[in-house]
Amino acid sequence: MALAAISFGAIAKTPVYLDRTAPIEARVEDALSRMTLEEKVRLCHAQAKFSSHGVPRLGIPEIWMSDGPHGVRGEVNWNDWGYARWTNDSVTAFPALTALAATWNPEMSAIYGKNVGEEARFREKDVLLGPGVNIYRTPLNGRNFEYMGEDPYLAGEMVVPYIKELQKNGVAACVKHFALNNQEKWRSSVDVSLSDRALYEIYLPAFKKAVVDGGAWSIMGAYNRIWGQHCCHNERLLTDILRDEWGFDGCVITDWGGAHDTREAALNGLDIEMGSYTNGLTSESEFTFDDYFLARPYLAMIQKGEVSDSTVNAKARNVLRLIFRTAMDTEKPFGSLASKEHYDAAKQIGDESIVLLKNNGILPLDPAKHKNILVVGENATRMLNQGGGSSELKAKDIYSPLDALRKTFGKGVRYAAGYKTGRSLYESEEIIPQPILDSLRREAVEMAKTADVVIYIGGLNKNGFQDCESSDRREYNLPWGQDRIIEELVAANPNLVVANISGNAYAMPWLDKVPAVIQSWYLGTMIGPSMADVISGKVNPSGKLPFSFPKRIEDNGAHSFGEICYPGVEDASKGPRQEYLDDIFVGYRWHDTKKIPALFPFGHGLSYTKFNYGKPTASAKQIKDGETLTIEIPITNTGDKEGKEIVQLYISDEKSSLPRPVKELKGFKKLTLAPGQTQNASFTVTVDDLKFFDDKAHEWVAEPGKFKVLIGASSTDIKATVPFSYSK
Ligand code: BGC
Repeated sequence: MALAAISFGAIAKTPVYLDRTAPIEARVEDALSRMTLEEKVRLCHAQAKFSSHGVPRLGIPEIWMSDGPHGVRGEVNWNDWGYARWTNDSVTAFPALTALAATWNPEMSAIYGKNVGEEARFREKDVLLGPGVNIYRTPLNGRNFEYMGEDPYLAGEMVVPYIKELQKNGVAACVKHFALNNQEKWRSSVDVSLSDRALYEIYLPAFKKAVVDGGAWSIMGAYNRIWGQHCCHNERLLTDILRDEWGFDGCVITDWGGAHDTREAALNGLDIEMGSYTNGLTSESEFTFDDYFLARPYLAMIQKGEVSDSTVNAKARNVLRLIFRTAMDTEKPFGSLASKEHYDAAKQIGDESIVLLKNNGILPLDPAKHKNILVVGENATRMLNQGGGSSELKAKDIYSPLDALRKTFGKGVRYAAGYKTGRSLYESEEIIPQPILDSLRREAVEMAKTADVVIYIGGLNKNGFQDCESSDRREYNLPWGQDRIIEELVAANPNLVVANISGNAYAMPWLDKVPAVIQSWYLGTMIGPSMADVISGKVNPSGKLPFSFPKRIEDNGAHSFGEICYPGVEDASKGPRQEYLDDIFVGYRWHDTKKIPALFPFGHGLSYTKFNYGKPTASAKQIKDGETLTIEIPITNTGDKEGKEIVQLYISDEKSSLPRPVKELKGFKKLTLAPGQTQNASFTVTVDDLKFFDDKAHEWVAEPGKFKVLIGASSTDIKATVPFSYSK
């Protein structure tokens, strides 16, 4: 046949859904119009542990997800939890989100989101499963280290830049766990009830900011139940609040195995069902994702007319929108992995996160003067990126505190473990025999006697029942006999610096005897250099606590009303249930209102320099609707080192028709000041900052009357008060 006779036909026009210049909604509608019912249903459930379906016939790719939130998790097998043993999936371990919150610096959040986003992009992920903004309600929650502390304002301000920068890489944030997953005990079944005030004032605001201000493209439903219904298909949470009140246009993804009912999942706003096992939670029966609630059973319900196909159209739209924003964004960058820039970012965030809790002057330790240093404690060498559950990371490098201290203070730095803990087991702990623990303790105490300074690096770790997913801590005190070790060390050598690593508060019965205490966090790859630089003074500490350290667990609100409040009580027919009787009084709101001093209050953190708070000025004495109040306060570095101070602004309502906390955080500024330098911290107070949630009227209300602006270096160290009034 002659070539000229071949007919190629007219070249088809690019369909709208493939035209990246077309508006995204037009692309979504076009794609939807070309899909069969079966194809739409397939978009709504997993095809592998970390992937959900696309539409291969139309060239619409599948979605690839990864934990999250502290780095990109190692590749996991298609349908079991074993690691796939790839050799190209080692990453930067970034500091835990608790550490990020402790920086009180939204710039650090932006840096975090950008850098972790580049890694996710390079690893070809479309969705990063994080960040988490569940509120720190009890220090026993095994997962607090993955969240951003006890205050909704702080968590909300910190989560937004993370999301925005992450998503610039064409990688969706999946904000988790929506909502009220504030403990791991009974996490998949506990039924939480709480007042609307606590819901709106404490537990939702950070999620709302993530969605409305951060523009998160996806959100993960929590495992637990609220008002009797699982969060992953909770009508009030997902339909009324997330979609209707906040206008969320992204994708709702279950936590793994978080769906429990096809009808509810169909009707109540869930889009993608992911899972651990085919029956949702417990055991692996056979390899069939088709058995998921939103797979064959859903298709059958639609075909029988038991639920309308408008439900699947709505879900498919949300999934397609997510795919267009991520996997099908042809202009997204390429990303990068474990680069020097990423290590520098991790170091910078870590540096700014470490909190100097107490210092009688022993710190910083000058490397020129201190050669005979003993380091004690397992966390000086332990790989803390391992364990902890889904946030575990396969880090390319971890620079340990011991190595970094030897680099800073010389090879002569000696080491004694002092105690030992077992392997990282998910839901249990390997117990080390007491005689071994006794001999390790004695060895460390003996060595301490001849040291110039002892640096103790203990705390918690990522074992089950510590800072670890799927179980809560069993005690508030430090585990593995650490209180005794610290007591004996300081008796043997008064020059003891305690530099603990944890994602949670703990008791410090030895506090009065110890001259200096540093709170460090799970800082990932650069944990050692950040800690060594703070200890040596190369970095001036500038973190402040994102949660209170109660003296005793009984001093925490959630632990003040018996088991019904935490961890809940088991009801033979209905499963465990829980009432948040602490209500809106979470963290410092509880300590303040009940006049129970914390061991270290929310917002506390010292520096190697000193800051003076001057006299504040206010733009007016009164604020009316639509107006703002500008408050300025000069802060001076009166010491001889450059330092950073976090200036906090709280609002106190003098009288209100409903009970309110004594004060609430409504602003913060982190200033960098050279010795002798003065800068103004400037804040804008709006009428919204004066509001509480009126549950009867279901609206935020500011009541005319007298208020105060309190400016402090912590929630209890109030340096200045500015009275003002509000009238409509
Ligand atoms: C966790 C999620 C995580 C998911 C996937 C669940 O057990 O609660 O936070 O993203 O597993 O690993």
